[in-house]
Amino acid sequence: MRILITGICGFVGSSIATHISENYPGVDIFGIDSFIRSGSEQNRSRLNRLGIRVIHGDLRVPGDVHRLPDAELVIDAAANASVLAGTNGDDARDLFDTNLIGTLNVLEYCRKSSAGLVLLSTSRVYSQLALENIPLIETASRFAIDPAKALPNGVTRFGISEEFSTAAPVSLYGASKLASEAIAFEYGCAFDFPVWVNRCGVLAGSGQFGVASQGIFAYWINRYLHRLPLRYTGFDGRGFQVRDILHPVDLAELIMKQVAQPKTAGCIYNVGGGEPNAMSLFELSQWCKERFGEHKIQSDSGSRPYDVPWVVIDGRIVQKTYDWAPRLGATCILDEIAKHAVANENWLEISAA
Ligand SMILES: NC(=O)c1ccc[n+]([C@@H]2O[C@H](COP(=O)([O-])OP(=O)(O)OC[C@H]3O[C@@H](n4cnc5c(N)ncnc54)[C@H](O)[C@@H]3O)[C@@H](O)[C@H]2O)c1
Repeated sequence: MRILITGICGFVGSSIATHISENYPGVDIFGIDSFIRSGSEQNRSRLNRLGIRVIHGDLRVPGDVHRLPDAELVIDAAANASVLAGTNGDDARDLFDTNLIGTLNVLEYCRKSSAGLVLLSTSRVYSQLALENIPLIETASRFAIDPAKALPNGVTRFGISEEFSTAAPVSLYGASKLASEAIAFEYGCAFDFPVWVNRCGVLAGSGQFGVASQGIFAYWINRYLHRLPLRYTGFDGRGFQVRDILHPVDLAELIMKQVAQPKTAGCIYNVGGGEPNAMSLFELSQWCKERFGEHKIQSDSGSRPYDVPWVVIDGRIVQKTYDWAPRLGATCILDEIAKHAVANENWLEISAA
């Protein structure tokens, strides 16, 4: 099988490309990247050494996509993936050019090549207000679902399922992905190619570019290691906000199971580490303290736009459908990021260059 990975030099694209190339003989991988993400250029020579061809091109430009060699499958891992994109003084149109028009050009490519598409969407498509209104209690170190209250549709103790509301606001980033999902399914139906939409929660692992608005686990661990200022922002400034994490290698394994079963296309799947791999920022700091020693975290009771107190992905449908489960747990992922941080002293500068 021949696979095109867009955004192949990004964190997720390069991790998936490496894993498939090393573990699935007979799969030929190539990819496209514009290198707009700081640090992405770093992955180019590493992928080349594995025999993976990287083409410099911009998905926003139809000709760049049209000229790509044919493939049987596209894994779309190119995006501006920051939840603050378009709201931080940068141009919102740029966000939609990349995330929506870029996807449209990829869909035209799929139509021309009769290639299937795996779209990496996000849990950010879920309603901000509905997420804010999930009833929570506090434990000693994190927010947790309040078992005494009625929960909104799509929330259980396992997390947020595919049934959760996608009503606006979801952030401009979330809207660009929600629209991409809809267009991808329409193209798949109209032109008869399979489309899988994976709504991913937080993905984390070594080599993730760490800035405050994207790659929070890599950002936090790298800054903690170097004793750089860190702040718990919002929610009373105690770092009780919770996320689950998934390693992209596990995502790669899932994708290979999905594409082996074309009949399962046409569905939306929530994909994440789930409740066993969830932790709060405070708990992350405790883990860092055990690993690296003391570092004082400051408290900031102000708020960050689009931040929410509790997002845990309920991935039971995808797990059952594909007999798949994450193999790399949270501790293993944190350990991997920490080792990478120690070995790459200037990682934060590379990520933010
Ligand atoms: N990292 C996460 O926690 C997470 C969570 C949910 C969903 N996702 C999705 O996974 C995908 C990959 O995310 P990531 O964390 O690897 O992001 P990333 O920023 O590390 O990688 C994105 C890559 O896409 C490239 N790119 C951006 N615009 C491009 C364009 N116009 N043409 C060609 N290449 C372009 C960038 O240069 C970069 O190499 C995205 O679609 C993102 O929305 C990521």
